[in-house]
Amino acid sequence: MTNSLENKSILLGVCGSIAAYKACELVRTLRKQGADVTVAMTEAATRFVGPVTFAALTDHPVMIHQFPPDPEAGVPHVEIAESFDAVMVAPATADILGKAAHAVADDLLSTLLNIVDCPVLFVPAMNFRMWENPATQEAVARLRGWGRRVLDPEVGELATLHVGVGRFPEINRVLSELREILDIPQFYAGKRILVTAGPTREPLDPVRYISNRSSGKMGYALAEAARDFGAEVTLISGPVALESVPNCRMIGVSTAEEMLAAVEQECGCQDILIMAAAVADFQPALPSSDKISRSDKPISIELKPAPDILKVIQKKFDGTIVAFSLQGESDLEPARKKLQAKGADYIVVNRYDEPEAGFESETNHVWVLSSAGQEVEISPDRKSVVARKILEHLAQDDT
Ligand SMILES: Cc1cc2nc3c(=O)[nH]c(=O)nc-3n(C[C@H](O)[C@H](O)[C@H](O)COP(=O)(O)O)c2cc1C
Repeated sequence: MTNSLENKSILLGVCGSIAAYKACELVRTLRKQGADVTVAMTEAATRFVGPVTFAALTDHPVMIHQFPPDPEAGVPHVEIAESFDAVMVAPATADILGKAAHAVADDLLSTLLNIVDCPVLFVPAMNFRMWENPATQEAVARLRGWGRRVLDPEVGELATLHVGVGRFPEINRVLSELREILDIPQFYAGKRILVTAGPTREPLDPVRYISNRSSGKMGYALAEAARDFGAEVTLISGPVALESVPNCRMIGVSTAEEMLAAVEQECGCQDILIMAAAVADFQPALPSSDKISRSDKPISIELKPAPDILKVIQKKFDGTIVAFSLQGESDLEPARKKLQAKGADYIVVNRYDEPEAGFESETNHVWVLSSAGQEVEISPDRKSVVARKILEHLAQDDT
């Protein structure tokens, strides 16, 4: 089972709306999540964004003409219409909604919409009066009545600077609807999940620090998987060399204190905290305000315990807490004790001494222990897969 759009073939219909440029970002996001996207533009859409842009972003030719100058053999639009897992029309104009609701097929996109039998999602964007027009509303109701999915546009400032219903929705909402029509589970729809990731850096002086080898890959994979399962995700990250996760709110921090402050600030509105960051256990007791000069003699650095984020947050947070523990032994007893002592709901155990697991690795091998005593092993796999399995397990755990 997967929650990703990997290998899904999506036909994206782009219409002549002022929001057509937002389809470019949509294509990028879909492709980053593994989907294969082909764009069909209406003639009007080409007035807003050049087809070259979509050809470059999708790596496929863009379809525009119902009657191309050099017709291909056969009936290509019928073959094309049968080759997709889903069709998304985004932005959808009042015009295309009206056409689709009345079987009008006078250009390539409207013809394809008349033929396809895969799930279809319309993402309307238009002036609020166009949206409220009874003809548009009737078209939307007809389409919905036939099982087509039509997203309600968002309320906000429109291109004309009027405020009203008509804005193109947030990409996360669009993707979450797309996953729904593709029957991809949305275990965390409507939930807010906070993930911490990466190491912290504890300054020794203005140019040096103590840190650890955490790459942040496990936390980033969890943030991505949570987003794909429908959650609204905030990712608090220590310094890492990873690209930020699209459609997650990112907060960058450096020290354990900064990570604690960010978690305290954000946790109030969250349902689940996943603490995958490798926060320092110790930090220099007295960081020097000047660069420590080289010396031929040994020097000592006094260390003090760094803030225990879990301990502080556990007292303030009512939702589900998922802690991580990195250990160098197969015995799960220390993790069971830590789970109890820290008051977390789950602890995910991974090992630093296993090949292909723990810090820096692309793969991981974990055990998920619950405070109710359930223990589940997730076999070695890519961190993205392990992340999905962890979240799937948490969603389905009814202990
Ligand atoms: C500047 C401008 C912006 C427009 N924006 C929208 C829009 O956001 N939504 C919409 O439904 N129509 C909009 N229209 C009207 C459509 O472009 C027009 O109805 C067109 O025929 C739609 O063709 P299509 O549905 O084949 O793309 C706009 C027109 C112009 C000139």
